[in-house]
Amino acid sequence: MKIKISCRKKLALNSRKDAIIIPVYKNIPPLRTITGKKIDDELRAVLDSDYFNFDEKEIKSFYAEINKKLKKIYIIHTPKEINDAKIYREMGAKTAGILGEDKICSFSLIAFEDVYNKKKDFVCTTAFMEGVMFSLYSFDAYKTKKDANALEEVEIITNVNRLKTYIDNNMSEWNSIFTYVAMARDLVNTPPNILTPAGFADYAEEHTLPNIKKDIWDEKEIAANGLNLVKSVGQGSANPPRFIHLYYEGFPGKTKNIALVGKGVTFDSGGTNLKPTESLEKMKSDMGGAAAVYAVINLAALQSLPVNIHAYIPLVENIIGSNALRPGDIIKSFSGKSVEIMNTDAEGRLILADAISLATKTDPEIIIDIATLTGACVIALGEFCAGLFSNRKFLSKYISDAAYKVGEDVWELPLYEGYSEKLKSKNADIRNIASGPKYGGSIIAALFLKEFVENYPWIHLDIAGTAFIESKHPVFGAQATGFGVRLIYQFIKTHYLN
Ligand code: BES
Ligand code: MN
Ligand code: ZN
Repeated sequence: MKIKISCRKKLALNSRKDAIIIPVYKNIPPLRTITGKKIDDELRAVLDSDYFNFDEKEIKSFYAEINKKLKKIYIIHTPKEINDAKIYREMGAKTAGILGEDKICSFSLIAFEDVYNKKKDFVCTTAFMEGVMFSLYSFDAYKTKKDANALEEVEIITNVNRLKTYIDNNMSEWNSIFTYVAMARDLVNTPPNILTPAGFADYAEEHTLPNIKKDIWDEKEIAANGLNLVKSVGQGSANPPRFIHLYYEGFPGKTKNIALVGKGVTFDSGGTNLKPTESLEKMKSDMGGAAAVYAVINLAALQSLPVNIHAYIPLVENIIGSNALRPGDIIKSFSGKSVEIMNTDAEGRLILADAISLATKTDPEIIIDIATLTGACVIALGEFCAGLFSNRKFLSKYISDAAYKVGEDVWELPLYEGYSEKLKSKNADIRNIASGPKYGGSIIAALFLKEFVENYPWIHLDIAGTAFIESKHPVFGAQATGFGVRLIYQFIKTHYLN
């Protein structure tokens, strides 16, 4: 899975890799100065023939005899006039997929900036490589026969000195980012019999970087610390809950900190309000928020970001059982507010409520929670776009901009106050689902969380659709996506570094 990337100033003619990739567009001027004459001549012949049509997203290959050896050359049609990273990410993912099927182990890529004659703004090659990295991921830990992509080495060929410097300077960070994206994807893909709350906690025990302080509570400590909502959601399972609190102090002496909260339901059966069969299939992914938060804090620590980050990860299995939570139960939350449980399948907001309350205790500059929270969000926005809520306009803007930059799409939904009274309970301070018709479910869930935020600056990301994709995303592929890792990391880097 891990690939070696290098960047060289040389002629493609001297490539020692299995294949050469050349981006082309209609009426492209000669590329001799980067490919060498022989390749350019062969390329012209192919581009002038009707083998290549300049169709949208067209990728074709041919063989050229170079230095007495046959070399495979892939030509990819690139839209010169469009500078949108998304297109290049998709192109990279698609190309890597095809090369994988062709069992190519290494390739040289002629940088887009060379083909376009661009001397600054290196979005195209960077985004293409991101697409390559995404598509190389595979989850085959539990397969006897591994079907991993063969690709191991990529060489970027460029004559643009500033691009080479840029790539050389950023390579190690890209590798770190994708290592942690893969970690988040692995955690989400791991089956729920293995990744129980204790399974996740053991993983964190082993993989948390040494410059992060960790506090991992078992069910007794969870109860002793008053996290009653976490305790109650987990009480029906033979796999008892855990609570992970991590602290990365990248800026000692600064009191301000960022609080990240991730929903960690290792399996969501719905509990007493048991889900129907089809809905159960992907419920191992109900800890996608927890995985993202865990990955981000480790990534920040690995990159030594000068910032202080708390991560709060409540872990439960929401399952049926003789001791499981019932509709009608009233639980006193960590905040002191009593919650009437009217549906045990609305469990994410319960464990998040306690974790968010705990987060407010360290006076954070911002709280970001990320959670596979509502089916309603998937209905509204589909699998490629996450729901965004915030109690500060500027934060919605910041996170939307970061989302656009990394290609992890979000769309803002309102914290519509008019629905707040639906959460009023006859017998307790608040109920966990709306009374009356079941409309606007994502907003209701967000409004429930808001009750525990104490008006701290807050962002809520509903990743029920994007964390785990049943169809296929053009960049993230199928199943676990690692959604949120690059997004939150980018957001922190842009706005919270000192
Ligand atoms: N984990 C689910 C939300 C979910 C649904 C995630 C589909 C991914 C795909 C959550 O705990 C849940 O069950 N929510 C309920 C809330 C309802 C009972 C108010 C839902 O969305 O149906
Ligand atoms: Mn549920
Ligand atoms: Zn859930």
